[in-house]
This record gives sequence, C-alpha cells and structure tokens, in this order.
Amino acid sequence: MAQNTVSDARHTAVVGLQWGDEGKGKVVDLLTARHDVIVRYNGGANAGHSVVVGDQRYALHLIPSGILYPDKVCVIGNGVVVDPEKLIEEIDQLRARGIEVGDNLRVSDRAHVVLPYHKEHDAALERFLSRKASATDPDLSIGTTRRGIGPAYADKVHRSTAVRVGELLDPERLRRRLRTICALRSTELAALGVEAPPLDPDALADRYGAFGRRLAPHITDTAYLLHDCLNDGRAILFEGANACLLDIDHGTYPYVTSSNCSTLGAPAGTGVPCTHIRRVMGIMKAYSTRVGAGPFPTEQANAVGERIRERGREFGTTTGRPRRCGWLDLVAVRYSAMICGATALACMLLDVLSGFDELQLCTAYRLPDGSRTDRFLPDAERLGEVEPVYERMAGWREPIESASDRHALPDAAQAYLSRIESYVGVPIEIVSVGPERRQTLAAV
Ligand code: GDP
Ligand code: IMO
Ligand code: MG
Repeated sequence: MAQNTVSDARHTAVVGLQWGDEGKGKVVDLLTARHDVIVRYNGGANAGHSVVVGDQRYALHLIPSGILYPDKVCVIGNGVVVDPEKLIEEIDQLRARGIEVGDNLRVSDRAHVVLPYHKEHDAALERFLSRKASATDPDLSIGTTRRGIGPAYADKVHRSTAVRVGELLDPERLRRRLRTICALRSTELAALGVEAPPLDPDALADRYGAFGRRLAPHITDTAYLLHDCLNDGRAILFEGANACLLDIDHGTYPYVTSSNCSTLGAPAGTGVPCTHIRRVMGIMKAYSTRVGAGPFPTEQANAVGERIRERGREFGTTTGRPRRCGWLDLVAVRYSAMICGATALACMLLDVLSGFDELQLCTAYRLPDGSRTDRFLPDAERLGEVEPVYERMAGWREPIESASDRHALPDAAQAYLSRIESYVGVPIEIVSVGPERRQTLAAV
C-alpha cells in the first residue's frame, strides 16, 4: 500500500480562471514561502509567468516561479512539453542574475521534448489556416505562441514519433529514431508549404544529445521524487500554466492550448493523485484579457479596452502581443472555479480599474433565441453567438496601489470584490494592487 494515503491540506494548486496571464507567477512566488516543492504540470514555453521583486522583474517560461527561493525544490513534471534550448537559456539567464539553479531544479524524464520541427510545424500550420482562397473563407488560425506546443503534444498522443526527455540521455537511440521521424516531418513540412532543406537527423541528434548532457543533472523520475516528498511530509505547490478557459477539454475549443491546464491536469501531469490536492487557489484578474483568437464575450475593442491595456500594461510576457481587454466575465470565472474546484480566489490587478466612473460585470449571457443563461458555453461557435448581460457598479477614483488592507480600499472597490465573492461563491483570499510582492492584501 502507498505510504502516503492521508492527504495534507497544505498542498495547494494555483490555476488561472480566465484565458491566461492572470498573475499566477506573482501568486506562486507569494505562496512558495509556505511550500517545499513547486511543480509545473502542463504546457511549455507558451507560458510566461512574471515575478517582480523590488526593482527586479523575472519572466519564467518553463521553470516554476518558485525558483527565486533557493531552499525550495522546483519540478518540471511529466505533463510539460520541454524545449531544451529554451530551458537551458532560462537556466543561464537566471544564473547570470545570481539565482541558484542546480539540484533545486528537477525535470521529468517522461516530459516530452519540443524539437525545432514542432515550432516550424506550429508556425506553418497557422500560416496555412489563415490563408484564404476567397473572401468568404474563414480564418481558422488560433493565434498560437508558435512555441511548438500543439505539435509536441500531438506527437505525445501519436506515440511512435514522440521524443521524451529521458531519451536525450541516449544519443544513439535518439539518432536512430530521429532518422525515421525527420523523414516523415520533412514531408509534412513541405506539404504545408515550408521551403527548407530536409531535416538532418544527425545534426539534430548531435545538438539534442548535447542538450541532454547539459540537462542530465536535473533529469529524474519526478513522480517518485514527488511521492518521496509526500512521504516526508513536505508541502507541494502545483503551478498551473495557461488557464482553465484554454484547457483542451474544458476551454473555448478549438481556441485553446493543447494540454489540460485546469487543475484536472495536475494529477496526470505529475503522478500525484487528485486526492492530495485539497486547496485550489483560482487566480483571476479584476477584468478579462485574452491573447490570440477565439470568442471573448465581454471584449471592449474601444476606449475602455485601450485604457485597461495601457494601465495594466497588457502585452504578452511570452510574445509581446497586445492582449485583448474587456470587462470581468463572472459567468466564465464561476465556470472555471467549478471545473478547477477552487477553494479560494486571488483577485489580481484591481489597481488597473481605478479611475472608471462605472464598472460592468457580466453575470449572464443572452443566447441567439433571446433566452438567458448563467452557464458558460465551452465551445467557440456557441460562445461566439452570445451577448453579455451586464450588472453595473460604481467605480472609484482613488489610486489603490499603496493600500495595505482590504478594508482600507474605497467602498466601491470593496463592494466590487464582495460581488465577485457572492456570484462565484468562493472567498477572495488575496487581493493584488500592483505587481510587487508587497502590493498584496492577503486574508490568509
Ligand atoms: P501569469 O501568466 O498568470 O503569471 O501572468 P503574467 O505574468 O503573464 O501577466 C501578469 C502581469 O501583471 C505581469 O506583468 C505582472 O507583473 C502584472 N501584475 C500581477 N499582479 C498585478 C497587480 O495586482 N497589478 C498590476 N498593475 N500588475 C500586476
Ligand atoms: P500563461 O501561463 C495567455 C494561448 C495563445 C493561443 C492559444 C494556443 O502565461 O497564462 P499555444 O501556443 O499554447 O498553442 O496557443 O493559447 N495561450 C496563452 N495565452 N497566457 C498563456 O500562458 C497562454 N498559453 C497559451 O495565445 O491563443
Ligand atoms: Mg503569462
């Protein structure tokens, strides 16, 4: 029998409840102090998690945001797709800034490898899907980060064409497999219109074998590592990347990413059973943003959206793309809280809303037949047809970046937070009023 059968309420999952960039990096950094191990379970270098400490800003893509604490163990779980080149770059950049990255970083030997042809395929497919033979043809591109995420997860599901991190440690086996894989990929890339010489399996095997040697000290069976930690009574923090509405099963399909980025992905992506995750911190912005294509009922493609983008510096951490901005969609947040099992909320970027006379919150959708629903529609086609039904609330003029207590916030800001809690049915434990660690009003 497994020794660790009693779940520990200290294990926590952090998960985005919207379309990403909710401020998960900041919250993971804050909660790291109370945990021993921080584990990423999904996604890859499509994620961009920012942590601001004093005048230093860090952008983490593959490495868990707990890495800034030298005494914590950071784990890249089996559910992640790892671009070794990006990972090494991230390690080197952190080290150059004085952050220790050694034994404290562990990478699953069963995580999947993103290879250059995945990134080429991602970009070529996006180009192909946005091509229009006639004006009425739809643009089917997703607006991906072009980090090779979809093609790498597709290979994982295809099985025989996938490469796992552990294989980087056996270059001759890698070379043999890449010969077949590269022949296939070269044909596919050519079919997608990529004009490039055929892929060279030997050059690739040499390069990725070298990455394997660099990463060897970090590569291990992280499922056993995590279970050893559980048995030693250590507290684990699960760091979700991307967000619930981008989840491959529960998001706004097909405008989603290719992993289970809700908390439902955490057990599969780490090997830690779901019975251990009893605390789920759902991260939400005080408004909504989205990068890339896909339905966004409360989008404000107007002065309101521009004001939010400017005040919130809403430009992608990974791609630098301007984020689409809009009012808070409570229907969507409540749905994500349900799917993720959120036990608490963190309401981020509240400071960005200072200065509006009036705020709007979407509490229902009007459907094409005129009826109303307060249920989310996790399907792009159907969600694209709804009209948001808004509740209006008074705004506040005062800047709140220096507030030190939730009860010291302007009455209108407190009322806004209370309305979120009453609608979603989950308490707000963290209110964030600026990017820095100290700009946090915590009820815990
Ligand atoms: P993540 O992907 O969920 O980790 O979020 P990102 O790091 O991509 O984007 C969130 C952005 O908001 C980052 O630039 C953070 O530094 C910033 N941020 C986080 N919390 C706050 C806040 O309360 N107020 C403001 N103004 N910025 C914040
Ligand atoms: P973090 O962890 C915001 C979006 C992309 C695109 C779609 C699919 O920083 O919150 P992909 O490259 O994954 O195939 O792109 O998903 N997307 C994100 N948007 N934040 C993210 O991560 C995202 N990860 C993926 O913009 O629309
Ligand atoms: Mg981000």
